[in-house]
Amino acid sequence: MEKTYLEKINETAAYIKNTVGETPVIGIILGTGLGDLVSHINISKELSYETIPNFPVSTVEGHSGKLIFGYLGGKYIMAMQGRFHYYEGYDMKEVTFPVRVMQALGVNTLFVSNAAGGMNKEFMVGDVMVITDHINLFPDNPLRGKNYPELGTRFPAMTEAYSLGLIQMADDIAKENNVRLMHGVYVGTQGPTFETPAEYEYMRVIGGDAVGMSTVPEVIVANHAGMNVFGVSVITDLGGKDIKEIPTHEEVQKAAVKAQPVMTGLIKEMLERI
Ligand code: HPA
Repeated sequence: MEKTYLEKINETAAYIKNTVGETPVIGIILGTGLGDLVSHINISKELSYETIPNFPVSTVEGHSGKLIFGYLGGKYIMAMQGRFHYYEGYDMKEVTFPVRVMQALGVNTLFVSNAAGGMNKEFMVGDVMVITDHINLFPDNPLRGKNYPELGTRFPAMTEAYSLGLIQMADDIAKENNVRLMHGVYVGTQGPTFETPAEYEYMRVIGGDAVGMSTVPEVIVANHAGMNVFGVSVITDLGGKDIKEIPTHEEVQKAAVKAQPVMTGLIKEMLERI
């Protein structure tokens, strides 16, 4: 008989526990902009996604990603190097499967990062934005379908989807280090198209400051799981009807790399203080 989602999660968590031994309470999803953080991790164990039972199979040849276990900022953490995007064709349950596995392993705090396009007129390319809230414009929700009470409640609140305590900590660190740190609402879309000028304008009107193609599914599941979440976006391009620059994947990558030291420094310092 086909295993249930819950059985798959528990099987994968058991495999990881057996393979890794000690498991952490802090998880990190390294999106664009935090890739550099890996070089700061004192790695004790790495698991390629393709070796982990039930993990989604990568769509990009030779680019599967891995789970990294080790120490960062004096804390034992697990990090996902590479995430699963909805636009790649994964369904919401697949996109968020690793977060469920983190939950089963005992993770209670999740850090997420991404690249995003800025709609807020005060933003500049290369800015780092602390995510204070999000708007789900994906055509689906990862909690749709059967609810497992073992995983969380049927109708979870999303009133503090991003931990106020962690946002405050980030602000304190930015102030002490004289770093420009923006705040904003992240709009999550399925992509893979970047927005039309009218769409950027629309997202601004509904209350968005930045838009990207990830994060919202993982954060919904992390909240369902009762985790504290901290999210950051690197603003890699700007959109709106008076903005003529065309966002490209290359430009996004370049801007993200430039902002890496700020993102990395912030997360490391936060881990030290947690
Ligand atoms: N739109 C959507 N996703 C993005 C963007 C954008 O402008 N920039 C980086 N990821």
